[in-house]
Amino acid sequence: MSNLAVIGAQWGDEGKGKIVDLVSLHFDIVARYQGGHNAGHTVVIEGKTYILQLIPSGMFRGGKIGIIGNGVVIEPNALLTEIKKMEAAGFRFEGRLHISDRAHLILPHHRWREKESEKIQNIGTTLRGIGPTYEDKSARRGMRVCDLMQSNFADRLLPMYKGNAEGEEFLEQVPKFRAEFSKYACNCSSFLAEAIRNEKRLLFEGAQATMLDVDHGTYPFVTSSSCAAGGISTGLGIGPKHIHKVLGVSKAYATRVGSGPFPSELTDLTGDKIRNRGKEFGSITGRPRRCGWLDLVALKYATQISGMDALCITKLDILDEFDEIAAGVEYDLDGEKIHEFPASYEAVERCSVHLRKFPGWKSNTYGLKKLDNFPLNARKYLDFIEDYLQVPVAMLSTSPERDDTIFFPAFDTICENSTQRTQSAQS
Ligand code: IMP
Repeated sequence: MSNLAVIGAQWGDEGKGKIVDLVSLHFDIVARYQGGHNAGHTVVIEGKTYILQLIPSGMFRGGKIGIIGNGVVIEPNALLTEIKKMEAAGFRFEGRLHISDRAHLILPHHRWREKESEKIQNIGTTLRGIGPTYEDKSARRGMRVCDLMQSNFADRLLPMYKGNAEGEEFLEQVPKFRAEFSKYACNCSSFLAEAIRNEKRLLFEGAQATMLDVDHGTYPFVTSSSCAAGGISTGLGIGPKHIHKVLGVSKAYATRVGSGPFPSELTDLTGDKIRNRGKEFGSITGRPRRCGWLDLVALKYATQISGMDALCITKLDILDEFDEIAAGVEYDLDGEKIHEFPASYEAVERCSVHLRKFPGWKSNTYGLKKLDNFPLNARKYLDFIEDYLQVPVAMLSTSPERDDTIFFPAFDTICENSTQRTQSAQS
């Protein structure tokens, strides 16, 4: 039985939510291992749009178990509001959502601190308090879900929050937080160990993406967690041998939000066209996303960092009307041709990208479910991506809807028996 990780291969917003929801059909448990409510995972089911920030995206299917691992940082109100909203939409979580008792809490002072630090650092963060919470975790002064369960939790925060309206309001809610969290809190490592013993299939859901990973991304313009596959083991308390396959998700072009280097960025009308056609505005913050051509140098680096076995390409249809498509295949750094992603963000900023051009396909790929009538030039573009990366394309997402997806033979290698399971689920 193979477990699978679904991980962003660019700078986030690749459309992981839909993919996790779709492939969750083949798994028993969906586990988030890092990030917090900086994420916005969009899932569209029968025309209805749901945006999840903390609840694992695979939980729309009845009977699936969701895990919010110790590597996730949780803002109590954000989680409880999300649960309430989803319950109002008809979903139930008690008994099937488990939150690690070791997960760190995002508290009001983390947001206050971030507001100040952003004035100096200007990373372009989501201002959700994510960074300061991970800072406190590493500095060994964080507060975790297990601390919330202790009767002295509010007393520990009182000296800092007394006299501050927002802080005092938070403290008043502590009994409610404790009561609600006690429905879900557990030792998720033990829960997963038991599930593994019982041959349950695990799906690991990444948030943000490999190029925003705190170690391997475009540091310091990154988030503060280990988004790449390496974060799964520590973020859930399972051995790395249980991570069997990794599916990377990449758009057919590139976007990023916030500051930081972005070698293939287009600041011209072509960039505007991608943004408008692709509705590239943050699902949570509404911020316009920076847009550019697919950067294969960065993508190859991401496939290496997370050990991606296959790729899912999303939003190819956004390029349907372009006369010409391009992809970055090489950088020029200070007069030298390079194919490795540089460590220093200043070096990345000095890189110019050598683009390979492709004729557009000028026909509709939106909503396709099969390869019949799939345009030849689009096929050639995908073939080039596979050849360059030496990673097969397993899936092509052709709209936000669950079923608008084309599966390629590589899908069976990352999700064994999937064809059989899909058929039995449909019968
Ligand atoms: P933070 O995660 O709020 O600390 O933000 C750090 C960087 O990661 C900023 O550039 C954010 O825009 C980016 N970021 C955080 N979460 C997401 C996401 O879900 N999608 C895309 N970018 C994100």
